[in-house]
Amino acid sequence: MSIIILGIESSCDDTSAAITKDNVILSNLISNQSVHKNYGGVVPELASRAHQQNIVPVVDQAITEAGIEKSDIDGIAFTQGPGLLGSLMVGSSFAKAFSLARNIPLIGVNHLQAHILAHFIKKKDQTDKKTPEFPFLCLLISGGHTQLVIVKDYLEMEVIGATIDDAAGEAFDKCGKVMGLPYPAGPSIDKESKKGDPQAFSFTRPRIKQLDYSFSGLKTAFLYFVRDKMKKDEHFIDNNFSDLCASIQYTIVDILMNKLILAARETGIKDIAVAGGVSANSHLKMKLHENAEKHSWDIYIPEFEYTTDNAAMIAITGYYKFLKKQFSSQDVIPHARMNL
Ligand code: KG4
Ligand code: ZN
Repeated sequence: MSIIILGIESSCDDTSAAITKDNVILSNLISNQSVHKNYGGVVPELASRAHQQNIVPVVDQAITEAGIEKSDIDGIAFTQGPGLLGSLMVGSSFAKAFSLARNIPLIGVNHLQAHILAHFIKKKDQTDKKTPEFPFLCLLISGGHTQLVIVKDYLEMEVIGATIDDAAGEAFDKCGKVMGLPYPAGPSIDKESKKGDPQAFSFTRPRIKQLDYSFSGLKTAFLYFVRDKMKKDEHFIDNNFSDLCASIQYTIVDILMNKLILAARETGIKDIAVAGGVSANSHLKMKLHENAEKHSWDIYIPEFEYTTDNAAMIAITGYYKFLKKQFSSQDVIPHARMNL
């Protein structure tokens, strides 16, 4: 018998709902919030309010697009954390009410685990899609996290390295802000970099032990570099925009790749995956392919729609938890901070 899961994701500024039937995705709806555009970042209070407004219509549409009835749903999975507390509370309250009303299991999902399990989402015509084999190594790179993870099974993961300060996505976003780019700056830097010279400017790499990362020094170095240059040429950013983007992107990706290569060497694992918003970066993908050839890796990059925040990854994680009967009770609470 198939298991149908409704997944809800509301950890940050996107309200998303998805329906899965076993590991096959039937619908995945995302409602982006435009209210934050003028503020240079996500405003938590506005995000919660927009989630409250969007959640019922988004769920309704996900059910309609999946071609199912509410009564077909076997379990409801929601993002329990990490994320913005007010945003998480909208999703968790909705999920609790839905679980009570329909008398179906409630499943709290770790957002980070879900980013990694996005690799197991299949579309209807992709039932023979190749997925990573356990144990595989996953570089999880999002706006809030940068971690190297050994994935031993669907629900068994070990973090072997992590950032000690900023996340890789934050480095993109903060450097973008210095150049006047709106939040999130990662996608714009990626696009602009295609026209620039990645070697035009060089920035020193952090010296962090073993498999950990650090990005806050790079952000500060970039800020001071640009400030100094602007003292002599007030149009420095405009005159060197593509080169600045390409150089900072090159540096961030280089830092990410160096530790990934080290982790692969130390663990001997050759199934290498990336997950999270930054895995959409085109330079990173190119470097992954280059290294796959060099080190005989099998690489796994999620499809674009499953890299940034989405409910399909919450639903698929809900499915694997459903199989293990890992259910939550009605007194479950969301957590702003949550480890893998
Ligand atoms: O996983 P995600 O959607 O949300 C979090 O859980 O944080 O990641 C969002 C992050 C942002 O920092 C955004 O700038 C970055 O992913 N990002 C990118 C690209 N697309 C999204 N960074 C670099 N290149 C991209 N193409
Ligand atoms: Zn995320």
